[in-house]
Amino acid sequence: MTSQSRVLSGIQPTGDSMQLGNYLGAVRNWVSMQDGYEAYYCVVDLHSITIEAPEPALLRQRTRIVAAQLLAAGLDPERCTLFVQSHRPEHTQLSWVLECITGFGEANRMTQFKDKSAKSGVDRQGVGLFTYPILQAADILLYQANYVPVGEDQRQHLELTRDLAQRFNAKYGQTFTVPDAFIGTSAAKILDLQDPSAKMSKSRPDAGTIYLADDPAAITRKIKRAVTDADGDIRYDPETKPGLSNLLAIHAAMTGTTPAKVEAGFAGQGYGQLKAAVADSVVAFAQPFASRTRELLEDPAELDRILARGAERARALAGPTLADTYDKVGFLAPAVG
Ligand code: TRP
Repeated sequence: MTSQSRVLSGIQPTGDSMQLGNYLGAVRNWVSMQDGYEAYYCVVDLHSITIEAPEPALLRQRTRIVAAQLLAAGLDPERCTLFVQSHRPEHTQLSWVLECITGFGEANRMTQFKDKSAKSGVDRQGVGLFTYPILQAADILLYQANYVPVGEDQRQHLELTRDLAQRFNAKYGQTFTVPDAFIGTSAAKILDLQDPSAKMSKSRPDAGTIYLADDPAAITRKIKRAVTDADGDIRYDPETKPGLSNLLAIHAAMTGTTPAKVEAGFAGQGYGQLKAAVADSVVAFAQPFASRTRELLEDPAELDRILARGAERARALAGPTLADTYDKVGFLAPAVG
């Protein structure tokens, strides 16, 4: 990878706060990738109406919250481009062309669509959920991104993105960079505190998920009630001791060390002592994070200006890619002037 490499990733403005697993598993990586990569980060509000559109005011608020939390987490508008998907019409404009070269069967094989539509049934699902991965491909291809930092669950969408880029390039000539998924192996995988067989997630019950906006008492309570096991032995063993190992992993990630070192440091101590220390380490991060987020949200005009500047910078890449694509397809360019 050279310093010229470009990364792009997206996050949905769902929920009222980022959760700890999302921060440790993804966002922390985004922050470190600002150095060494040309980084583009997109709040994907268009994607967030594919399941069930929230109240308009709530969607606007959540978009600002995600942006503020990303900045509070360490994204620096001077070192990365942070923008809102709906501010750049090129996303949906490119998406249409990509939809027209995506096979129906190909889209129908996306497992996330199957999972997400399982609840309400395919027949009651909006078509937007079906074309979701194609819009995601447009997000990535518009910026000629080399790497896309995402979780394991996005691997199939990245494969589709690569296939579409290659297909278009083969037919019309070199147009899109074929991106690679960047599935961070060092990123911590944080599990649900109440059910350590599942990933920590916004879509799971509150008691197992730590939100970075939770107050210190709530964070401490959730960690103290985390499911562990009965043998009382502080040992990092994700196979047989998933709950306890998850706590060691959280503490390691929060304090910049490894689970093995945390384990060694707690030799001879009880689960209660470990849990208290884990709670302290999470609160030590979450408290300043929450107050920085609050400060940013208290000045929505300034936040909106940061996002507008991001969208303007995004245009410098998205505009030419879209124009090139439309020209290659054969859409008549409007006369200038
Ligand atoms: N589908 C991604 C997720 O659920 C979000 C996303 C949308 C995204 N567009 C993207 C991720 C482009 C990376 C690049 O996590």
